[in-house]
Amino acid sequence: MSDPMMTAATVPVSPGRAHARAMGADPDLDHCPLMSTYGPPTVAFVRGSGSELWDVDGKRYLDLLSGLAVTSLGHAHPEVAAALTEQANTLLHVSNLFGTTVGAEVAQTLDRLLGGGGQVFFCNSGAEANEAALKLARKFGGHGRHVVVSAYGSFHGRTLATLHATGQPAKHEAFQPLPEGFRHVAWDDVDALAQAIDPTVAAVLLEPVQGEGGVNPASAEYFQAVRHLCDERGVLFMVDEVQTGLGRTGSWFAHQQFGVVPDVVTMAKALGNGVPIGACWARRDVAAAFQPGDHATTYGGQPLATAAARAVLAVMEREDVPTRARVAGARLTDALLALEDVAAVRGLGLLLAAELAEGIDARVVAADALASGLVVNAITPTALRLAPSLLITEDDLAEAVALLGDVLARHRPIEEGS
Ligand SMILES: Cc1ncc(COP(=O)(O)O)c(C=O)c1O
Repeated sequence: MSDPMMTAATVPVSPGRAHARAMGADPDLDHCPLMSTYGPPTVAFVRGSGSELWDVDGKRYLDLLSGLAVTSLGHAHPEVAAALTEQANTLLHVSNLFGTTVGAEVAQTLDRLLGGGGQVFFCNSGAEANEAALKLARKFGGHGRHVVVSAYGSFHGRTLATLHATGQPAKHEAFQPLPEGFRHVAWDDVDALAQAIDPTVAAVLLEPVQGEGGVNPASAEYFQAVRHLCDERGVLFMVDEVQTGLGRTGSWFAHQQFGVVPDVVTMAKALGNGVPIGACWARRDVAAAFQPGDHATTYGGQPLATAAARAVLAVMEREDVPTRARVAGARLTDALLALEDVAAVRGLGLLLAAELAEGIDARVVAADALASGLVVNAITPTALRLAPSLLITEDDLAEAVALLGDVLARHRPIEEGS
């Protein structure tokens, strides 16, 4: 119970809140001039470490979402922080009119992790990586061969072109007319894809696991059949690994588990562990379609972002994050399935969705979990998405699952007659 003698003036002010006030900011986020492209935030985080977060009032949370599959090495990773500090004290930016050694190093590492024989274009986000892939497909295809086929339920970004590639018609409505040249087919249905590919099609663009669409993994057979079809019809196979890439699913890139080699791979999110950076990799002869002047972005591959990516990739390789994701993913799946209110678990590695027992609303559970100190996300009205740090400790994982179990039990539907 609150102390009736404690007035607003005497309530202890947390360091986070005090700092915000000193900077003239409204720490309650009630009146801040941000466009409401997301719902109003209920929590403001000020600090993180590994899988832990603290809010403006000093309350601790366990993070099973990683900033939407971004902070794969956890928050405030010391080696990434040190690399950023050093780079900030050395060279932040020179423009792509000039080369940087750190950008070249990161491109080499990515090419190696993808099996070699390609080239990389750096940008600042997942949507931009896909935008580059779309333009590359058009340039490679030539005039009259520009259509990109993607799947219903997919998510590829929010720019006008990537929004149209996104196979969610409800998201298109308010922004019509969208750029021409996009076609959608049923997910995991190779016959539908075969019918959609005509001579105007330049590329097929698919996620190995539809992340925003509900954490729906493709089957290896589907990806192999798509590869075969694309070869047969002379169409590029482009794989969007923005959410699945860099170890999260149990291999460096999820398509590698399906035994296919794509022509183009896009990535972002985990590459900077929170520092904005995206990349579009393409087979060398496809990449050659881009000539000077065809595509560019001021910040793409700049030293600060690539210094972060270089440190991220070094830690990821040393820690063998794909194996960690596989092992921890299996452990998390078992622990979730042992909860009475979890009906099923799907996904790959540490990109999982827990389908809740009938009658439990995932949105209500996610909100209650947050209030209880656990960050998860309702990816559908009936499922929670879990994408913890790939370095999460066994203790943190066990604590998070126990917390989730308690939250779920509070939302169990009351059985009639009980
Ligand atoms: C598969 C996929 N592609 C593209 C994007 C867009 O990335 P960004 O939000 O960095 O533009 C996302 C974001 O969630 C994604 O999951």
